[in-house]
Amino acid sequence: MDHFELRDGALHAEGVDLTILATEVGTPVYVYSSATLTRHYRVLREALDAHPSVLGDSLIAFAVKSNSNLSVLATLARLGCGADTVSEGEIRRALKAGIPGDRIIFSGVGKTDAELAFALEVGVRQINVESVPELDRLIAIAEAKGAKPDVAIRVNPKIGAGGHAKITTGGEGDKFGVPADEAMALYARAAASPHLNPVALACHIGSQITDLAPLEAAFSLLRKLTETLRQQGLPVTRIDLGGGLGVPYTGGATTASPADYAAMVARVLDGLDVEAAFEPGRLLAANAGVLLTRVIQVTERADGRKFLVLDAAMNDLMRPAMYDAFHEVKPVVPREGAEVVYDIVGPVCETGDTFARGRSLAPLQAGDLVVFTGAGAYGAVMSSEYNSRPLVPEVLVDGDRWAVVRARPSYEEMLARETTAEWLA
Ligand code: LLP
Repeated sequence: MDHFELRDGALHAEGVDLTILATEVGTPVYVYSSATLTRHYRVLREALDAHPSVLGDSLIAFAVKSNSNLSVLATLARLGCGADTVSEGEIRRALKAGIPGDRIIFSGVGKTDAELAFALEVGVRQINVESVPELDRLIAIAEAKGAKPDVAIRVNPKIGAGGHAKITTGGEGDKFGVPADEAMALYARAAASPHLNPVALACHIGSQITDLAPLEAAFSLLRKLTETLRQQGLPVTRIDLGGGLGVPYTGGATTASPADYAAMVARVLDGLDVEAAFEPGRLLAANAGVLLTRVIQVTERADGRKFLVLDAAMNDLMRPAMYDAFHEVKPVVPREGAEVVYDIVGPVCETGDTFARGRSLAPLQAGDLVVFTGAGAYGAVMSSEYNSRPLVPEVLVDGDRWAVVRARPSYEEMLARETTAEWLA
């Protein structure tokens, strides 16, 4: 459920009329709903808390990569949410938003020495190690710093899943994690170092997973490996199950619910006595955000094809171009009349800048506003200034109040970031 609804004929984000936001801030702009973020967090928290003996102490660590806006992070931080991070920049964001270090997980396939050192300095909860060379670098850095970080070993369970090949991470050929047998050896190697404290196995098999079966298979493997490690006398006190649970991008879509997910996890982990961590991104953020955009014009071809040309483009919302992702398009003030079939495009100069083809919508005219729904995760974070279009701004709504939480740069600001080489000046 989200808090974007028609009220008095106009789409609102909670108490705020999107037509007013469009006038005040301009378009395109991302609009996030605090109430929806909060609700999504609570739904997952309650689903986990329904299994207190197994999941009562579990940590929800929001995947910062899905939406790293400081105000979004601060909204979640106030609820007790942690962070899953993959760079120094994301750790810095999480800390600045008020997420304490002991709730920050540091993941990622290629952490630099400097990033690992930074993570040790700020005292993150755990570093998820994904390879032998990374483990060796971490041992050296920990020794130099006199630190003894908690470490998880990320397993590649050879079970890939997800909404698109480009977002599947658990498959055998994917770059993430180490195969199960190597993970055992890596864990033992970490345990043998006086500079590391291995505490957990981790996995993350993909994103936009709508069916629980592959997740259950991966989690069961992690349980088995945990038991094997313990049989070898190695302590394992935590387990990190990653993110990946999908969301309905359309009203009719069916996805496994957080309650079903939690029940499955509780079943798999029952009696294992580990503290679980989850790294949801999309589940919390996707349907808490829309991309608000204005129709520049409707271009009609002689053959009857109609292009709806928006002021948002692929640089603002990459997902359709990159993953053929589906985002629902809704008019902000729906007009009367029979539906019209549109190809929905942005102004960027490549055919990839197509949001949707053959979409039936209420009739639209130049100047009308529409939103892309489900845009709160992997939307603004993946935006760029391609075609020298200033970076898309972000607004956070909370009830009747709203704030610009990332401003659109002016053209002057955009150009001022660059300097002309002195021999060209
Ligand atoms: N944990 C790890 C280690 C991850 O790599 C990811 C996402 C997550 C958690 C969060 O996954 P989620 O719960 O959001 O599915 N840009 C793509 C999605 C890439 C996901 C990458 N990893 C998209 O727009 O669909």
